[in-house]
Amino acid sequence: MLDAAPPVTPQPESERPPLGSRLMRRKPVEQLVAEGGQGEGGTLRRSLTMWQLTMISIGATLGTGIFVVLGEATSAAGPAVAISFVIAGLTALFSALSYAELAGSIPVSGSSYSYSYATMGEIVAWICGWCLVLEYGVSVAAVAVGWGQYLNELLEGTIGVTIPESVSAPLGEGGFINLPALVVVLLAMVFLMRGAKESARVNTVMVVIKIATLVLFCAIGFMGIKAGNYTPLAPLGITGISAAAATVFFSYIGFDAASTAGEEAKNPKRDLPRAIMLSLLIVTVLYCLVALVAVGAMPWDDFDGTEAALSQILNDVTGHSVWGSVLAAGAVVAIASVVFAVLYGQTRILFAMSRDGLVPKVFAKVDERTGTPKANVVIVSLFCGILAAAIPLSELANATSIGTLFAFGLVNIAVIILRYKRPDMPRTFRLALFPVTPVLGFGCCVYLMGKLPAPTWFAFGGWMVAGLVVYFFYGLRRSSLATAEK
Ligand code: ALA
Repeated sequence: MLDAAPPVTPQPESERPPLGSRLMRRKPVEQLVAEGGQGEGGTLRRSLTMWQLTMISIGATLGTGIFVVLGEATSAAGPAVAISFVIAGLTALFSALSYAELAGSIPVSGSSYSYSYATMGEIVAWICGWCLVLEYGVSVAAVAVGWGQYLNELLEGTIGVTIPESVSAPLGEGGFINLPALVVVLLAMVFLMRGAKESARVNTVMVVIKIATLVLFCAIGFMGIKAGNYTPLAPLGITGISAAAATVFFSYIGFDAASTAGEEAKNPKRDLPRAIMLSLLIVTVLYCLVALVAVGAMPWDDFDGTEAALSQILNDVTGHSVWGSVLAAGAVVAIASVVFAVLYGQTRILFAMSRDGLVPKVFAKVDERTGTPKANVVIVSLFCGILAAAIPLSELANATSIGTLFAFGLVNIAVIILRYKRPDMPRTFRLALFPVTPVLGFGCCVYLMGKLPAPTWFAFGGWMVAGLVVYFFYGLRRSSLATAEK
């Protein structure tokens, strides 16, 4: 993969700028924006509206977290799990405000990677981009694995069969390969190759279905609420609520996905900030409502170990298993749409990194007919598909969270730096209470990172070291800024 870039003639050490200044070289905002859309052999097409951008963010956000992780979090927090969703939502909100300000002023497809490049220099940008592979690439795989579980639930509830474990679980988890996970990633690949506009249409349909499923859940579940289920509100105290908040933070990951579509948006400066804020508002309201209804309709201690808790609630309230199957069908669509939108985001981030020379040029190659980075889509999908099919990924949700929190932390710093360095730059969205909001955003990210277990930190450390090795052997010399220095 790494040999796809043109050969680089090594520059004599004496002629190179000092290492420190090479690591800290920044890409001017104006250059980032001017290069927007340009790839190898073609340009991306600007076709996405504010509505479609909002749907991309909701598409990437609403899925496994509410359909699967809710059950786990309720076991930790009790009926107060709705408060955990509010706390995690506030953490996401502070960072979302920073994303909105930066997306409005640097409307490119690299998201936090590009914001870091403009403000903190190349090495930080690279580290950020490397973390985004955890937020996007690895989470595609982790989410795809959850998809297989709901698919089995649906098949069992409708036609009474399930996919045998040998082909629905990887080695180490009782099977050989997780075929459903591979299939959902390959399906997403096929749609993504057809063009941003077509992809956005498919995404919108899936998002409407998943929102409708959760609204249906609230309407039916509401009839089963028993006031007694809300007491005691927090059986495991504040500790339980905050541990559950760290767990459900996973369900907010993805609201930033619109910021990976900056170069395909019709009016990115105006629409990206709106899409980011609107999507976060919609998912937060839905999450809190679903959590309130779920713990009202089922005693909190019944959630323990119940992956498909929402299906079970509908079955219990209505007395008909058909409603549980309807919910499972909605979850299948919901989780597929997360795979789809997150895969989209990963390809566009790599597109931006490739244009900057930090990853091979093949990732920025644009297919003339569809106006999409087709080769990039295929490589990323195969990578994520194989990861999802072959590796037990239950632990990787935490890896996704730590990478995401790191990237969010950098975005909060970037907004502060840009305000001081470029105070007069046009901003279509300015976050309120500067610098309190980004400082709080940064603090929340550090706090939640601290709540993640030691093995996650070790894995993260290993990932970072691998990233630095790749950078020093590849990006440092091939960076387009390095070429310009010659
Ligand atoms: N937020 C995404 C989900 O819950 C990752 O599936």
